[in-house]
Amino acid sequence: MIVCANFKANKTRQETHAYMAVVESFVSANDISDTVIVFPPFTALGHEQRNILIGAQNGYPVRNGAFTGEIALEQLEEFGIGTILIGHSERRHVLGESQKFIAEKFRFFAEKGFAIVYCVGEPLEVREEGNDALMAYIEKQFEGIDLEYADLVIAYEPVWAIGTGLTPSLRDIELIHGALRAKTSAPLLYGGSVKVDNAREIMGLENVDGVLVGSAALSANDFCEMIAQAAELGASGR
Ligand code: PGA
Repeated sequence: MIVCANFKANKTRQETHAYMAVVESFVSANDISDTVIVFPPFTALGHEQRNILIGAQNGYPVRNGAFTGEIALEQLEEFGIGTILIGHSERRHVLGESQKFIAEKFRFFAEKGFAIVYCVGEPLEVREEGNDALMAYIEKQFEGIDLEYADLVIAYEPVWAIGTGLTPSLRDIELIHGALRAKTSAPLLYGGSVKVDNAREIMGLENVDGVLVGSAALSANDFCEMIAQAAELGASGR
């Protein structure tokens, strides 16, 4: 299983270090072999990577250059960052990134050998049109994306489920993940209002290989609990 925490623009550098200390001890004390990734804000990327991968929430597709307010390859490399989130719904819908630009980022960071967690997901009006419309929408989010890329993880995150407390039914998650599985052999994460109370049943679904958690992962203890659930599922052969 792959269990990820996306901090977004939350937590200071100090808070991130304190958080990481809790999660690192939990992972080593419990011999967790599942992959744990934390995406902190840029200011905290310098935390030393021990038994947890640290990923960047974003990156500009250049080595360096005149891109005010952005962070590029050179700065990520300095911190040993080799994992990046691309296509998150907040980048698409709040920051206005186009599929063309997202695909450009994907190509750039894939060429540099980054592990890429690539996010897709539909807004509510598309979901309401039914599953065919939904898959057609997601298909467009794969334009320019190499689904055969070796270090790829796909996260299915319905826009309307992110930060809202709403989630699709388990059956719907399974359905979409089944359709995604037919397209790629990359591990498939579910994201959108995952929390301690629902993580186990979601991770237990077929073709769900882990979770990408925002708000509920801001508590180190809750995040550890979800890691424990992932490990238990793995131990039980799921
Ligand atoms: P959420 O966010 O868990 O707060 O819904 C998930 C995400 O945006 O990755």
